[in-house]
Amino acid sequence: MVQLLPILHLTILSLIIYQPSLASGADNPTKGFARVHLDSSNFIVEKPYDVAVDERYSFINGVHRFWVYSTDKPHMPSSNTKPRTEIRITGHNYTSGVWQFEGYGYVPSGTTGVCIMQMFGGTSSATTLQLRVYNGSLTYYRSPVMAENIYDRWFKVNAIHDVGASSVKVYINGVLKYEGADRGAGTHYFKFGVYEQNDPSDYMESQWKNIKVFKKEKHDISPTPQPQPQLER
Ligand SMILES: *[C@@H]1O[C@H](CO)[C@@H](O)[C@H](O)[C@H]1NC(C)=O
Ligand SMILES: *[C@@H]1O[C@H](CO)[C@@H](O)[C@H](O)[C@H]1NC(C)=O
Repeated sequence: MVQLLPILHLTILSLIIYQPSLASGADNPTKGFARVHLDSSNFIVEKPYDVAVDERYSFINGVHRFWVYSTDKPHMPSSNTKPRTEIRITGHNYTSGVWQFEGYGYVPSGTTGVCIMQMFGGTSSATTLQLRVYNGSLTYYRSPVMAENIYDRWFKVNAIHDVGASSVKVYINGVLKYEGADRGAGTHYFKFGVYEQNDPSDYMESQWKNIKVFKKEKHDISPTPQPQPQLER
């Protein structure tokens, strides 16, 4: 009895501690990952080549705002791609491992036919993942829809690329919304902003904040750790 009591105590405490995550139904996609260092030197802004950066991008109170017009030029004179204003994350190119992008996105009503986040690099296509917006829905490329009615509110994105397993997972607001194969080997990196796709609006905008990148070198094959309440400290 004397020995059982502390165990009961711990069990009850751990139930209390774990209640919030159970109640919301949300997973923790960053569990087991380590954050990599990011500062402004890791962010390269790509914008139509004939305009200044501040004509298509601002960074105010921690919020990156990107906008572009369907009549805009590509990001380089030599490029045939559609107009974009995007940040490319540099210094963390990867060809192996398990990598994760986290950020909060916001798309104003009216923006459509646009890619707002990418995992660059692949074999069967130039990208491993595109998150797009069509008519207020957030989609994996053109389909499937991952979330509806995303206009005018912040949503959390966690996108995971497991290169060894050739898999991609996308969590929206902490809930797994897409899981599938990647598009082959390549040099990969993350991008976010606005990049015109099919059936675009004349004006496209997205905002992003709290951008983080995480990395896991190996698969976590250890058993799920039990909660360890820190009673003794
Ligand atoms: C990252 O990869 C891109 C595309 O392959 C390349 O242009 C760029 O130089 C690479 N950056 C670094 C820091 O290796
Ligand atoms: C978006 O809405 C427009 C107008 O209702 C429609 O023509 C278009 O097909 C829709 N696009 C998608 C991808 O659902």
